[in-house]
Amino acid sequence: MGVKQQYKEKYISASDAVAMVKSNQTIGIGIAGAEPVGLLTAMADVALDIEDVHFWTCLPMRPYDIFMKQEMAGHIFNENWFYSYGDRKTHNEGRASYIPNNLNRASTDKLFSTNGQLDVFWGTATPPNEDGFMSLSIGLIVQGDLLEAADLKILEINENLPWTFGDTIVHISDVDYVVENHVPVVELPSSPPSEIEEQIGGYIADLIKDGSTIQLGIGGIPNAITAFIMERKDLGIHTEMVVDGMVDLVEAGVVTNRKKTLHPGKIVGSFALGTKKLYNFLDGNKDVEMYRGYYTNNPYVIAKNNQMISVNTALQVDILGQVCSQSIGTRQFSGTGGQLDTHRGAQMSEGGRGIIALRSTAKKGSISTIVPTLAPGAGVTVPSQDVDTIITEYGVAELRGLCVKDRMEALVKIAHPDFRDWIKEEANRLGIVPKLLF
Ligand code: COA
Repeated sequence: MGVKQQYKEKYISASDAVAMVKSNQTIGIGIAGAEPVGLLTAMADVALDIEDVHFWTCLPMRPYDIFMKQEMAGHIFNENWFYSYGDRKTHNEGRASYIPNNLNRASTDKLFSTNGQLDVFWGTATPPNEDGFMSLSIGLIVQGDLLEAADLKILEINENLPWTFGDTIVHISDVDYVVENHVPVVELPSSPPSEIEEQIGGYIADLIKDGSTIQLGIGGIPNAITAFIMERKDLGIHTEMVVDGMVDLVEAGVVTNRKKTLHPGKIVGSFALGTKKLYNFLDGNKDVEMYRGYYTNNPYVIAKNNQMISVNTALQVDILGQVCSQSIGTRQFSGTGGQLDTHRGAQMSEGGRGIIALRSTAKKGSISTIVPTLAPGAGVTVPSQDVDTIITEYGVAELRGLCVKDRMEALVKIAHPDFRDWIKEEANRLGIVPKLLF
């Protein structure tokens, strides 16, 4: 059968697709910018007629009724690898729960917990080419694994999605149905760096030498540093998240990928989130390859890049060197994502370094982010035994291999001056570093 005929036979409306969902089923979806917007929206029309349908999500980008509306309790439950704004709210209302994970194993561990069972997969893809091949575009972290595992596979075709290469290509014969929804791809613009972010960016830039391969994590600070490495030569990119600032680095000739020891000549990523500038850059660009999180974020794969520098940000760091990037005390804020994967992989690379950069205070300077102990109930994103380099606007603390007393001293130097004595006094009072030691 010809490709056009196959497409025609598999083409259904979003209403037909959501009508196939049954009570107690589990549905995996494409993540972030690869969300199936039409299917998730149409699901609200049938959700109240069925019970206990579980979604596996990651960084949802829009406030879908099925997740946000209180009347969905008992009908829809959101198991989530990475919270965004809406999930923090629906968590409190009892309709969402975080799945602890390192993103390189998010889909494989989840499938392990169900003996490989997934009822339905809804992802997104570009329209097929004349041979029937489609690109899974900008959300590879879990899409490939879930697509292969699901009993019922439906792709939402969107002509606005960029065609990306790597492990992205699926054939029309690999899916059961297609729906169409040509909405604009969700955008996440970045704001210009603040004065503090500029100071932090300067310290990070000093640690990125010519020929390094970089990873930039999610959040204001990692995205801001691209402006500070415009003088570097022959940088490479191996990253979970591909962002707008990387386009500037390529266009300025800073990123050439020539010196990469793994995938030379190529930017390697797993998902992309930014603006149209980024999506246009990715479309049909053979210098960029997108792979599943299982590959891109595997620390052993990351480590094959020499001089690998990972840059992520955090909410709190304690004097043991434990990094919390995912919760504010007991409140789940986001997720581990690929932070531990990339921090570990970078340290395993020859000449590599894992950087966690954060502002020294939060809440308008009223609290220190460098703390004697993490807030009770905080999720540990990077354990103390994995931590490497912490940076604030006050400088750089290199913690790898240091004892706790020396870690405390290094961290106190980069804490805000208003909190330095407090950190030491608390460390003493709690017996983490007894006074006679400092
Ligand atoms: N205590 C209490 N609140 C704090 C805090 C602290 N120590 N530190 C920050 N906050 C608050 C901020 O005030 C802000 O609150 P607001 O939204 O009310 O203004 C909020 O937490 C977010 O802080 P901000 O610094 O603006 O966050 P960000 O957008 O730069 O993201 C992380 C920072 C750490 C949440 C984000 O990078 C993350 O989730 N990281 C984990 C995943 C990861 O790094 N993956 C890497 C591969 S992509």
